Amino acid sequence: MGRVLVVGSFNVDHVWRVAALPAPGATLSGSYATGPGGKGFNQAIAARRAGVETRFVCALGEDLGAQLARTLCSNDGIDLRAAVVADPTGTAGIYVDAQGRNCIVIGAGANAALAPGHVADALADVTAADVLLAQLESPLGAIAQALDAGRAARATAMLNPAPANVAIDETMLVRADILTPNETEFAALVGRHVGERIEADAVASLDQPRLHALCRELLPHGSVIVTLGASGCFVSHAEAVPRGDTAICYRVPAEPAQAIDTTGAGDAFNGALAAALAQRPDSAFIEHVRFASRYAARSTEQEGAALAMPRLTV
Ligand code: RIB
Ligand code: NA
Repeated sequence: MGRVLVVGSFNVDHVWRVAALPAPGATLSGSYATGPGGKGFNQAIAARRAGVETRFVCALGEDLGAQLARTLCSNDGIDLRAAVVADPTGTAGIYVDAQGRNCIVIGAGANAALAPGHVADALADVTAADVLLAQLESPLGAIAQALDAGRAARATAMLNPAPANVAIDETMLVRADILTPNETEFAALVGRHVGERIEADAVASLDQPRLHALCRELLPHGSVIVTLGASGCFVSHAEAVPRGDTAICYRVPAEPAQAIDTTGAGDAFNGALAAALAQRPDSAFIEHVRFASRYAARSTEQEGAALAMPRLTV
């Protein structure tokens, strides 16, 4: 069985569905639901439900949120390595409007206390893993430590640079073998690292040579996969094209979906891609991307984030 290590956040999501996102000073009412989330946890659940052995490294408090994380990991068979730090466990307040657009406020809580030493301890016994997957909802020192530990275990180091408002520097980018921004994150990264201003909603309409050139500047040594929502995704490889792929860059169309909630769709894509890379190292890269797109599409057909991850094995 393939082996994926996920280092990142766990949040208790509080979700309000509203007709329109609130303006300053407004009081609205909407339907409410709560459930597990956090980019790290969502991606770990996706990897696990896609059928691979999954270890999830995070920081939790000792409150009800932490209990929820422990129960869910045990139910799904995820090897949880949680650093126990001060309460509260992470939270996210999410508004979703009638068009399915969302607006998220993170209360990092315990996630903000994940230290490089916690990550080093949690991964100390790993000698071989296939993929190490991290995001930007944890302190950057811990993420750097995770990417290094992954590479030391000969894993492919995958960085999902989300959310877009967290700035990283070159020392983080050089640690990643694969980078998976969405269009907002891609525009932010290009602005910061390539020095070009592009609008997030224009990314999907850029032509392939231009997208490829920007990806190459961003991560000269590795692969970049830009997820474009309903426009599918764009894949750009460095000079060494991975096994089975014949083109150095290409688009993969989105899978049709009856979407009702896209919260965590990016996480579904990342977890499933990591699982596919881990489970089928001999398959073509494009097949992994197609599987991840299919997996993400199915996740949008259920309400919620982590609990919307389908049991769809690679
Ligand atoms: O990517 C979706 C996730 O972002 C939510 O589950 C929320 O917790 C925030 O971290
Ligand atoms: Na969903």
